[in-house]
Amino acid sequence: MLDEIKILQNQIEQAFALVRDIDTLEKFRLEYLVKKGKIQLLFDRLKDIPKEEKPLVGKELNILRKNTEEKFNELKAKFESQSKTQPNIDLSLPGRIMPLGSSHPVYQTMGRMIEIFIEMGFAVAEGPDIEDEFHNFDALNFPPDHPARDMQDTFFIENGSNLLLRTHTSPVQIRVMQGMKPPIRSIMPGRVYRNEAISARSLAEFHQIEGLYIDRSVSFAELKATMMTFARKMYGNNIKFRFRPSFFPFTEPSAEMDITCFLCSGKGCRVCKYSGWLEIAGCGMVHPNVLIAGGIDPEEYTGYAFGFGIERVTMLRTGIDDIRLLYENDKRLLKQF
Ligand code: DAH
Repeated sequence: MLDEIKILQNQIEQAFALVRDIDTLEKFRLEYLVKKGKIQLLFDRLKDIPKEEKPLVGKELNILRKNTEEKFNELKAKFESQSKTQPNIDLSLPGRIMPLGSSHPVYQTMGRMIEIFIEMGFAVAEGPDIEDEFHNFDALNFPPDHPARDMQDTFFIENGSNLLLRTHTSPVQIRVMQGMKPPIRSIMPGRVYRNEAISARSLAEFHQIEGLYIDRSVSFAELKATMMTFARKMYGNNIKFRFRPSFFPFTEPSAEMDITCFLCSGKGCRVCKYSGWLEIAGCGMVHPNVLIAGGIDPEEYTGYAFGFGIERVTMLRTGIDDIRLLYENDKRLLKQF
């Protein structure tokens, strides 16, 4: 019997050596430590052995059981604490890529335009989306009967009130002039609203960037140089441009700036309506009446102003030829930028 105990002890030691985890430990328990396990089987035979051998055999068996249980509990505690601190993850699996969002193409364009003008020394100013007629029209030298003031073109907040959703960012020019003394070098990005029929070329809500430069003896040549520098930085050094005479109530003289259509390099395509040219901005020398409305003496100061439609610039940059696509929020389109 003592020999058998020795043999079992040996077996148990080898079996412990093979225990790797909680599952193999459980197999071990089922083989040695349960009621029908190998240790208990030896205990069961105690009753059959001679009386005088019983104390010694019993003692040895008890030692074996105690040691085995101790070692078993030790391993059990070890595996349990491991499974708590190390969840069952495969660190060699490739990671899942989190989908990254991006800013809207119109805001990307706006950001790039702002960056370029800041490099040229302009500061950024903002004004309210809800304007009054004075800032939106009167101060900008719109005559009282100008058609843009019509309810058909402008969203008034209430019938008969003089509050409206600004139709352009130009009223911010007046607010900037009222708020500071020249020299002024500001750009004014923002959202604008017009009571328009929605089509491939126009929306009722869109974005503009206004520019204003006022100092002593500012010339039209400086306006051209600023616009040219902007166009080259935005579209590359090979861009060609032209200025066409135009009319705005708040500038005199006024011009519109065209650049060569970079989709067709000036050869003529659907986007430029086969002219080879694309209009990107209105601009001109600030009208003396506008300077006066802003509290600036036109005898002392002159200035230039310009206005870009940001959706327009975005369409030219991206080749999107229907403005409505920009606001459908179709991820297949937005993801490309
Ligand atoms: N406010 C004009 C518009 O909405 C754009 C514009 C034209 C702004 C000429 C200017 C400018 O500052 O000088 O169509």
